Amino acid sequence: MYNFTYCTPTKVHFGKGQIEKLHDEVVAVGKKVLLVYGGNSIKRSGLYDDVLARLSDCTIYEVAGVEPNPRIESVRDGVAKCKEHGIELVLAVGGGSVLDCAKAICAGACYEGDAWELVLDWRKVKGALPLITVLTLSATGSEYDFGAVISNLETNEKLAICHDALFPKVSILDPQYTFSVPKYQIAAGAADIMSHIFEQYICLETNLISDGICETILRTIIDCAPKLMENPEDYDARAQMMWASSLACNGICSLGNGERPWPCHAMEHELSAIYDITHGVGLAILTPHLMRYALNDDTVERFCHYGKAVFFMQDQEDRYAMANEAINKTEAFFSSIGIPNNLSALNIDDKHIDEMAEHALAFNPGFDKCPRPLYLEDIKQIYRNAL
Ligand code: NZQ
Ligand code: ZN
Repeated sequence: MYNFTYCTPTKVHFGKGQIEKLHDEVVAVGKKVLLVYGGNSIKRSGLYDDVLARLSDCTIYEVAGVEPNPRIESVRDGVAKCKEHGIELVLAVGGGSVLDCAKAICAGACYEGDAWELVLDWRKVKGALPLITVLTLSATGSEYDFGAVISNLETNEKLAICHDALFPKVSILDPQYTFSVPKYQIAAGAADIMSHIFEQYICLETNLISDGICETILRTIIDCAPKLMENPEDYDARAQMMWASSLACNGICSLGNGERPWPCHAMEHELSAIYDITHGVGLAILTPHLMRYALNDDTVERFCHYGKAVFFMQDQEDRYAMANEAINKTEAFFSSIGIPNNLSALNIDDKHIDEMAEHALAFNPGFDKCPRPLYLEDIKQIYRNAL
């Protein structure tokens, strides 16, 4: 087991009615608030009105209409408002895109130059305004981690910015706010949570504790996502999805493990940069192809272990057959919750494969640390296999 230092400074209020804590948490920081949200989902659900009523003694400015795959323009808009009005804290109400946009605003507000410079080079982050989040979609883990992913349509780039200053100060996680999440987004969220785990679990050097956490989260999603397809208001399933989302991406699942270079995310961010697809759907399509590509003498036992622990498979003499069966079960699970299993279904062809592979490699130095090391031609081939 390798050394690690671990700290998640985010305070979590989890469960029904925890929005009651919002007012006190906000005014403990300040009364000049920038409220960041997406399209109309929080207005339809009544959450927008509820938040404003609870903060009636605060001065609220807004950034509305944050897009899925949030754009740098929305970040710039928020940064300008923070600087102009002396905003004391940012309140993000929505899914991962809203939270990510808010995080970049928090960092941009404490930076003299253009916020995109921070995305290109995290070392320029000098600090950030405090962030409070109210989550409405279980997927990214942004509510409990220090990352944000921002898109720039001018340069066709979608890149992560990570910094300790970007952990939310407080996150309010009420599973009831996810009751209205549509089935496509439930499936995409499930795939995103599972992918966060695969990135940390399909590795060669793990330990029993990290394996146990990862396997529990994978089994939880495989149990809960189909239940939500049947009954979107199943509170326990929504609650478990929500907590799984938060745990899956903040590093706790792989403490003490060896290299975990997150190749699937690096490759998917290229797809959503160019084609503006839903992140979790892109991940679900790439995952089985990455797994099959990674299957070799070094990894075969890892995939068999995964099949036993997550799909309760019996040991088989033919280890490759068993490993392939585990990968096929993964693909079948994604299909069962309505995700297509190839990129063509999203109208993606081979036109940008070279460009995506080169950019993914240039911005993600870890590909050669994958369980089967990946180089430029390997990345291109995985994209082709997924078409
Ligand atoms: O904009 P609104 O109207 O709110 O609608 C959203 C959006 O259309 C809707 N939605 C959200 N909550 C809802 C709801 N609809 C009904 N009821 C609700 N309660 O869902 C749609 C998608 O929302 P979005 O925030 O884009 O989804 P998600 O949470 O999956 O976030 C995806 C983004 O997060 C990034 C992804 O790359 C992508 O840009 N990621 C962020 C990470 C992080 N910060 O750590 C890690 C992830 O790996 C990921 O890369
Ligand atoms: Zn993700």
